[in-house]
Amino acid sequence: MKFFLDTADLAEIEEAASWGALAGVTTNPSLYARIGGKLDDFHNHIKRICDIVGPDCPVSAESVAMNRDEIIADGRELADIAPNVVVKVPTMVEGLAATHTLAAEGIPVNMTLCFSVPQALLAARAGARYISPFIGRLDDIGENGVQLVENIVKAFKLYGITTEVIAASIRNLEHVEKVMLTGCQIATIPTKVLEQMIIHPL
Ligand code: G3P
Repeated sequence: MKFFLDTADLAEIEEAASWGALAGVTTNPSLYARIGGKLDDFHNHIKRICDIVGPDCPVSAESVAMNRDEIIADGRELADIAPNVVVKVPTMVEGLAATHTLAAEGIPVNMTLCFSVPQALLAARAGARYISPFIGRLDDIGENGVQLVENIVKAFKLYGITTEVIAASIRNLEHVEKVMLTGCQIATIPTKVLEQMIIHPL
């Protein structure tokens, strides 16, 4: 299983990379705002992240556009920043259409904010390289986020779908341990949880 870091913080990315624990980064303008970043500087910040992690480490960068043409334009711009940029697109109708176009152009897409198996199947059909089911947010509304990851992995295996599953919106160690056992390929983890993974009372 691979671990991605879910952050916009360059120092956190450097630290995780130094542990040999970093297989990718996922980020978005909200995470950038949390460290004082501005939306109009987001693309420059993606470049800074790509410079740190190098060309073999996928960096998912989220488009905040809401309609297909704007997502496509934003996606092309993001993909031009570096060859390892993956365009993160919300799972919605406009996002599916944009993913279909971007994927046909060879631009890798991570469909994010996925909350159901049918959504994951449609994302895969649209050509998404990755699908990101949101565990914590489902738990927040009394549903079972880990179960969704398990079901998507099972469905993809059944149909030979090669889209990789990124367990996202991970809030704690229990989430990490449980998604590991589902066979999903990747978990994207906040730094706080990555640090907890090495700590043990003994
Ligand atoms: O990976 C997605 C993440 O940034 C959202 O997490 O905790 O806000 O649901 P959360």
